[in-house]
Amino acid sequence: MAETTRALWPSLLDPALHGTDELCAVSARGVRVRFADGRELLCGTSGLWNTNLGYGNPVIAEAAADALREASYLSVFRYENAYARRAAEALVEVCDADHYGRVIFSTSGGAANDVVMKVARHYQALCGQERRKLVVGLRGGYHGLTFGAFGLTGDNLGQQLYGVDQRLVRHVAPNEIGELALLLERQGTQIAAMVVEPVIGNGAVPLRPDYVAGLLALRERYGFLLVADEVATGFGRTGSFFASQQWPALPDLVITSKGLTNGTSAAAAVLVSRRVAAAFNDAGSMLVHGETQAGTPVTCATILATIAEMRRLDAVAAGRQLSALLEKRLAALTATHPRVETTTGLGCFRSIRITNADGLPLPQTEVPHLVAEIRRAGAIVHPGVHGIQLLPALVYTAAELDELMTCVRTGIDAYFAVAPVDLETAR
Ligand SMILES: Cc1ncc(COP(=O)(O)O)c(C=O)c1O
Repeated sequence: MAETTRALWPSLLDPALHGTDELCAVSARGVRVRFADGRELLCGTSGLWNTNLGYGNPVIAEAAADALREASYLSVFRYENAYARRAAEALVEVCDADHYGRVIFSTSGGAANDVVMKVARHYQALCGQERRKLVVGLRGGYHGLTFGAFGLTGDNLGQQLYGVDQRLVRHVAPNEIGELALLLERQGTQIAAMVVEPVIGNGAVPLRPDYVAGLLALRERYGFLLVADEVATGFGRTGSFFASQQWPALPDLVITSKGLTNGTSAAAAVLVSRRVAAAFNDAGSMLVHGETQAGTPVTCATILATIAEMRRLDAVAAGRQLSALLEKRLAALTATHPRVETTTGLGCFRSIRITNADGLPLPQTEVPHLVAEIRRAGAIVHPGVHGIQLLPALVYTAAELDELMTCVRTGIDAYFAVAPVDLETAR
């Protein structure tokens, strides 16, 4: 007879670990999470990179409760609702009201990536470019695991196994403009859009400024839409409200999700430039996309409250200050720990690359063991490429950051069972 397992089937967790109390969170407050085994851990990942303001923000909780009491459920499907109108206005305002004109609500980063591919192909058809169906993503990029987004995701995570159709997707290497230029030379008239993360989440690899400049120039030349997938980089993660606000020219579409509601709702939004939106308006053409739970009062109330709290707490500036401190701590760790090879990333979005005693990168299969050691030392960190990733909440104090770095160092030492390095000299 089959062994009895618990009903919950968690995502991307080794089946051998299902049902483990050590991994079952029960509550969270500030930057700490309590688990079913009784331990409370420091969260070094802002949840799943979404609780940028920490857990348990009372203003957001109140806004959600009020919306549920006052309006329960209202849709944006064949109707509008006043909460969604207000949230759309607020998003356009924080992103750039001169450039972006409209907002499409969705329920996850993956679903929103599906939306942008539909918008791009529809837009190109409205411009008489029906042949433009291809969407370009970056190798190593992550856009989610729904069927459309999974196709665009640039790592092999089982697309073939699941029959994900990638015939209309192309992938190019990040930060290598020559490869993109070559693809455009060959297939430029068939390309509807290119979707990029400003910082590739997997490994925390920022797009270099010269690459972004090249992308923008190629957009002008070849007429594809440029989409910034800011699911992870939005809401202050990398030093501005949206990372693409630091680009010399803005993208045509922006996707936001994780930090959008501080992780409290299944929410995503696509900001659409005035130019792209005008093509639909002028043609009187209806985009065929809709999700029952998109743009509901509770979701939109949490978006509005999150934006208000970001402002009240001056969270973008706080994130910038924290990132300067993080930069110093990471430099000290790299300089003083023999197994820390380098760090990458931007703002409060960082990765630490680890090497074995032989100087070779930590094998990917070892990464979960390293993450587990750091958890034993008291902190939650994210698995990375040959190492770990840190995405602290923007509201972390300096003391919390030091605690996180101590847990990281202790965990790395425990993993390699090497003599601990003196913490004072490492600061
Ligand atoms: C850049 C990016 N796009 C899309 C997604 C997918 O979002 P979701 O898990 O909400 O579908 C993620 C999630 O990590 C992401 O980081």
